[in-house]
Amino acid sequence: MTVPGIRPQPELAERMSWVKESPSSRVADRVRAFRAAGKPVLPLTIGEPDFDTPEHVKDAAIAAIRAGETKYTSANGTPALQSAIRARLERKTGRPYGPGEIAVGGGAKQLIFLAFLATLDAGDEVIVPAPHWVSYPDMVALNGGRPVLVPAAADTGYKLTPELLRAAVTDRTKWLVLNTPNNPTGAVYSKAELAALAEVLRGHPRISVLCDEIYDEINFGAEPVPSLVSVAPELRERVFLVNGVSKAYAMTGWRLGYAAGPAALCAAISTLQSQSSSCPSSVSQAAAAAALDGDQTFIRETVAVYAERREVLVSGLAAIDGLRPVRPDGGFYVWTDAARLIGARTSGGTRITTDADLAEHFLETSGVVVIAGDSYGCPGHFRASFALDSETIRKAIAGLAASISKLRFR
Ligand SMILES: Cc1ncc(COP(=O)(O)O)c(C=O)c1O
Repeated sequence: MTVPGIRPQPELAERMSWVKESPSSRVADRVRAFRAAGKPVLPLTIGEPDFDTPEHVKDAAIAAIRAGETKYTSANGTPALQSAIRARLERKTGRPYGPGEIAVGGGAKQLIFLAFLATLDAGDEVIVPAPHWVSYPDMVALNGGRPVLVPAAADTGYKLTPELLRAAVTDRTKWLVLNTPNNPTGAVYSKAELAALAEVLRGHPRISVLCDEIYDEINFGAEPVPSLVSVAPELRERVFLVNGVSKAYAMTGWRLGYAAGPAALCAAISTLQSQSSSCPSSVSQAAAAAALDGDQTFIRETVAVYAERREVLVSGLAAIDGLRPVRPDGGFYVWTDAARLIGARTSGGTRITTDADLAEHFLETSGVVVIAGDSYGCPGHFRASFALDSETIRKAIAGLAASISKLRFR
C-alpha cells in the first residue's frame, strides 16, 4: 500500500525514468485483460516461433542433466558449446573465429545489452536505423549512450543507405546497429548493400558495427543471408556479430545467445557476466550445442511452413483497402504501411490520430492485435506476426477487413 506523502523505498534510480516497458509486454497485458473479460482475441503479436524445440535438442538437455552438467561453467560457455558456435560461424562467414573471440550469454538480448554496457561512455552515439527492434534505443540509453534514430525510407525497402549513414555519423558515433533480417520489416541486406555501407565505414575507423543476425536462418531467399564480415572481411576487427538459438530452433525460453567479435570486447563481456549472472544455464548450453551441431532438418521444415504463412498474410493484407504490406525476405513479421487510415473516424465518431489509435480500434472492433509502428520508430505502420497457424491468420485478416470497413474518411 502506498501511504500519501511517503516515497516508495528504495527510491528508483534516475535511469529508470529513461526506460519504457517493452510494447509487447504492454500489448500482452491488454490481451490478457480482453481474454479475462471473455472477449476473443487474435494476436498477430507473437514474437517467437510457435513450434516446439526439436526432440534431439531436448534429449541433449536431459542427457546433460543426467550426466551432472548442472554446475557453473566458464562465463563464456562450455568447450562443447564454444566449438559448436565456432563451427557454425565458420560455415556462415567463411572465416575462423578463435576461442577468445566468442561470447555466450542468456540470449542475444543480454549480449547486446552487455556490449553497450562494456563500451558506451556518457554521450557516445549509436546509430539505429528505423524501423528498429524495440529494445535497441532503450539499451543504449540505459548504458549512458545516445541512440541516433535514422529513419529509412519505404522506397529503399526500409534499409539504411550509404547516404543516410554518412549523414548520421558524428565525432561521437561509436556503433552502428545493423539488423538483418530486420525486425520488424523482414528486410535482408544484399551483398551489394552491405558492400556500399562498408565503403562508408572504411572512412570512419572508430565506428564499430553491431550486426544482429538472430533471424538469419528464417530466410526466404535462394542464398544464405549475407553477413557484413563475409562481404567486408577487413572490417572483421570491429564487427560484433550477434546470434542465438531462440528463433532458428524455437528455443526462446532456453535463453541462450552467442556473439563473435573483437577479443577485448568478448573478454569485457565475460567479466561483466562473471559479476552478474556468472554464466548462462549449463543445461541450455548443452541444448544449444546439440542444436547448432546436430541435424538441421528442423530449420528447413519450419522455414517451408513460415513461407506458406507469409503468403497467406501478405496476400490477405494486400487485398484490404488502405493497407500496404511489405513481403519480408526473412523473419516472421509483415510490416504494413497503414498511413492512409490515419485521420479516419470510427463509427462512434472518434478520430484515429495515431497508429496506436488504429491498433486499439482493431482490438476493440475485431479482437485483432498488432503492434503499432511507433514502437519501432516508424509511425503510420504496424507489425503483424505469422508465427501462428494459417487458419488464425485468415481469421485475423477477416477481422482487420471488418474493422477497416467501419472507418469513415470524411
Ligand atoms: C532483432 C532481435 N534481436 C534480438 C532478439 C533477442 O533474442 P534472444 O531471445 O536470443 O534474446 C530479438 C527477439 O525478439 C529480436 O527480435
